[in-house]
Amino acid sequence: MMHQWQFLCENRELLLHRMGHTPRAFVKTFGCQGNVADSEKIMGMLINMGCEQAEDEKQADIILYNTCAIRENAEIRLFSMVGELKRLKQANPSILIGLCGCMMQQDEVVRQIRKSYPFVELIFGTHVLHTMPELLNRILRGERRVVNCYEGEGRENRIAEHLPIQRGQGVQASLQIMYGCDNFCSYCIVPYVRGREVSREPEEIIREAKEIIAMGYKEILLLGQNVNSYGKGLEHPINFAQLLHQIEQLEGDFRIRFMTSHPKDCTRELIDLIAQSKKICHNIHLPVQSGSDRVLGQMNRRYTREHYLSLIRYAKEKMPDVTFTTDIIVGFPGETYEDFLQTLSLCQEVRYQCMFTFIFSPRPGTRAAQMPDPVPYKEKTKWLNELIAAQHKISEEDNRAMEGKVLSVLTEHPAQDREGWMVGRCENGMIIKFPAKDVRAGSFVKVKVTRGLRSEYEGELA
Ligand code: 5AD
Ligand code: SF4
Repeated sequence: MMHQWQFLCENRELLLHRMGHTPRAFVKTFGCQGNVADSEKIMGMLINMGCEQAEDEKQADIILYNTCAIRENAEIRLFSMVGELKRLKQANPSILIGLCGCMMQQDEVVRQIRKSYPFVELIFGTHVLHTMPELLNRILRGERRVVNCYEGEGRENRIAEHLPIQRGQGVQASLQIMYGCDNFCSYCIVPYVRGREVSREPEEIIREAKEIIAMGYKEILLLGQNVNSYGKGLEHPINFAQLLHQIEQLEGDFRIRFMTSHPKDCTRELIDLIAQSKKICHNIHLPVQSGSDRVLGQMNRRYTREHYLSLIRYAKEKMPDVTFTTDIIVGFPGETYEDFLQTLSLCQEVRYQCMFTFIFSPRPGTRAAQMPDPVPYKEKTKWLNELIAAQHKISEEDNRAMEGKVLSVLTEHPAQDREGWMVGRCENGMIIKFPAKDVRAGSFVKVKVTRGLRSEYEGELA
């Protein structure tokens, strides 16, 4: 990063010269929380180059799309959105358009962008995000197009520390603890685009956590594709539970959440720690993907339905108030209706607070994309709807059962639809709205649930 600071400074002058005024930058993020965290770093670097944050593409001199590759429809959508930018560039040739993120780690996508979208001047992958000042510098010095998406051998497996971060304005800050994924679930493109798992040094994480707390954030979201395997490969042995323990020891009034947990690496030690902690929320995102052992095997998830359910039972025993959320893939290649019914019954047993459901999308280069997939999309959609309807019923019942309970709530912002009401997030992850005249955003308050709706509560200050 030291090397990059020199370009940050140089770019300040060059950008001002090219635009003729204080440059405005717009970064649009697609996909997961990991991409949101990367965009905060990109914006951090742009602010250090003298940019202001623009509200949208039309106001911006620099437009960057931080892309996602997890499902096919993201790709289709991106191409059409990039096509739209052509008009902006024609109207004002000095604006600078760039693409980055997971899709730029896919050769085929980069090839297509190079060929069909000549007005995209800057293309860079996830592994070289920290070199953005240098890449931009080359454009500002006259190169027509700069592409840097280290593929395969060229990838760096080190982590660039000390990047400036332009964090969001809310009460929650994300903190990336590791990058990449080693699991190779057969449907998933992440290990191919993000590369192997690398953990940050605990000292760096603690430094950043302290910084976040000192800035006044009230919730830290620890991020990684598979946080439960944190620490692998570090010189001094440490695991995720130990890291969490170090963070919760830090002084201050804050909460901790984390995602994503892989059930195969979720330990009882971790559950015990969450149960004892006053800061770690009793709300765990534990993607199951499928309830059928046969499909789990095909997915290369490396746990069984019973192992998953035993973790859930253990956690519920230790924390009667624990809530779970999950990700589910419907219509994996070769999945039968009987397999799907296993997923449905698992969900009915766990009773998730909410779930993120996806119809299988074949990703180039993954094993699942090669598997025979005879079930028509329309049929998969029917199954998906059946699952969603079952989940709605569970959410409605369980949320109603919370009426009368008093919960710890972190206030987030005034409600837009109701004068004098506040929106907050309960420790259990649910959104709650309640009348509150004199409560500031970022306060911890006790709120009694008065109405449990399908996806939120209403309440009153207790
Ligand atoms: N098709 C559908 N869903 C997918 N996911 C990941 N890859 C695919 C795919 N190829 C889902 C998984 C994962 C979530 C982030 O996205 O459920 O947990
Ligand atoms: Fe993909 Fe599996 Fe890694 Fe999650 S754990 S990113 S689903 S390979």
